[in-house]
Amino acid sequence: MKRRLFIAGNWKLNKTAAETSQTVADLKEKLADFNGTLDVALFPPFLSIAAGQAAAEGSPIGIGSQNVHFAESGAYTGELSAAMLKEAGIELVIIGHSERRQYFGETNETVNLRTKASLAAGIKPFVCIGETLQERESGNMETVLKGQIVEGFAGISADQMTDLVVAYEPVWAIGTGVTASPAQAQDTHAYIRSEFAALYGQAVADKVIIQYGGSVKAGNVAELMSCEDIDGALVGGASLTAEDFSALILNA
Ligand code: G3H
Repeated sequence: MKRRLFIAGNWKLNKTAAETSQTVADLKEKLADFNGTLDVALFPPFLSIAAGQAAAEGSPIGIGSQNVHFAESGAYTGELSAAMLKEAGIELVIIGHSERRQYFGETNETVNLRTKASLAAGIKPFVCIGETLQERESGNMETVLKGQIVEGFAGISADQMTDLVVAYEPVWAIGTGVTASPAQAQDTHAYIRSEFAALYGQAVADKVIIQYGGSVKAGNVAELMSCEDIDGALVGGASLTAEDFSALILNA
């Protein structure tokens, strides 16, 4: 049984508040006749979130944050807490994107802490996992993914698994134009779901939303979304213009 798809756009370090306002307004217009059969969200940079929220009002487009800190307060220069996000009306957050793991020292442990802090604040985490090309080619893909799952989701209850989204993003497919083939992506999603089944039982695993991310575009989204265990997409480059992202959403 297919789960409801969730298509999300991660804008990374792109778009000022003014640009966000314009792109979200354009997207809203292009989705005017959208039948709402799937969930849609955008993740602009922190300072552009308020502009995105204002422009998205009255539309099905959710606006979230690309990061959150796990502490409630304290000496963590440059960070924002889950309560601060919540107070700003933010209900969605990306956690543990591979760029944060690679450039900002994010680990499975900090992913776990951030996920727990978000859930406690009533914010839906989009928890990213994925292997590098070297890990895949050396035959370690399953070990790496299992570690990310076991450590990243430690202490998260079965009930909480339906309050979050998992995003599988093979690092080698991010921003490279190389997409995992639908068969490759499906096999890995099935593996990831089997690990959640081992932790929480099949009934819970069957409800977990697992997005695919890595060079998803309007032209390849339908085939990816038709795979049994792929429940949406976390999109980078193809979410940056209203034209590209609306075409992708309408094709999903
Ligand atoms: O969070 C989104 C991913 O990193 C995918 O980026 O669609 O540009 O490959 P991409």
